[in-house]
Amino acid sequence: MAPHPSRREVLKWTAASALLPTLPVLASASPKKEVALRIAHLTDIHVQPELKAGIGMADALRIAQERRPKPDLILTGGDLIMDCSGTSATRAQDQWDIFNQVLKNELTTPIEHCLGNHDVFAMYRYSKGRQAGEPEYGKKWAMEILGLGHPYRSFDRAGWHFIVLDSTFPQTDSYTAKLDDEQFEWLVADLKKTPKTTPILVLSHIPILAACAYFDGNNEKTGNWVVPGSWMHIDARRITRAFYEHGGVKLALSGHMHLVDRVDYLGTTYLCNGAVSGAWWRGNYHECEPGFGEVTLYRDGTFDHKYVTTGWTADMKVSIPGVPVEVVA
Ligand SMILES: [Fe+2]
Repeated sequence: MAPHPSRREVLKWTAASALLPTLPVLASASPKKEVALRIAHLTDIHVQPELKAGIGMADALRIAQERRPKPDLILTGGDLIMDCSGTSATRAQDQWDIFNQVLKNELTTPIEHCLGNHDVFAMYRYSKGRQAGEPEYGKKWAMEILGLGHPYRSFDRAGWHFIVLDSTFPQTDSYTAKLDDEQFEWLVADLKKTPKTTPILVLSHIPILAACAYFDGNNEKTGNWVVPGSWMHIDARRITRAFYEHGGVKLALSGHMHLVDRVDYLGTTYLCNGAVSGAWWRGNYHECEPGFGEVTLYRDGTFDHKYVTTGWTADMKVSIPGVPVEVVA
């Protein structure tokens, strides 16, 4: 620690500074940041034949693409359809048909998809055996519809590296949010071959890290916080460590919770970007209105973020025969 200045020295400096001319306040010295890419992140669309969800999806796409400046890229965040994890193949096909039709009618922007747990066909009856004539269980059907060669992948765009993860690890009659060893090893290898100077955006359906996961449900009822392993990645410790060790992962986007939050941890910002469907087309989910994330990526590795609400109002008079009001993420 430096010694304290004497009273005489303090008086001398004060007198000297009083003699200095007043300098004009400089305008912002930093040059204007260069935009790399503008992204609309539309997650948890949950399209279905009921509740005018197709119209809601079309509205959201239109609003996102009419924003100015216009987005260069749309990222979907999984749970594209209401659900095919516990439905018949016919019901699943009906939902995918609406999804494809709305995209065909409305999409004018490049798009990249991410798989959600509700896009995994027949996950909840995986153990009971495949029925005759049904498409293959699991993620393959959604991958075929979306034109994905693999459930996780990476690509480069506008100087940023994008990593799309597959969060859903199916269990018997359920799922956990985690990467299996094969995917985790792929992630570490992909990070390793990406220069540390290249900014990275990670997209996953289920949050790797989220504050809102604590508040979805009575998670404190035992006297301790208990966050389900299907709310937030149970392997967050090793994923966040891998991001930290690389140092280039600036942003990790997710959905799943139908809530909006932001967590900054070890140099990465984790954004949970609400839901296009809000409460599955029944209005707001907790405090979260239907909407999407708007993210601007800059060349210098920084970003801006805003949650844009669509103003969608639910038509609660529409009934869904056989579909309960209670819904799950
Ligand atoms: Fe969802």
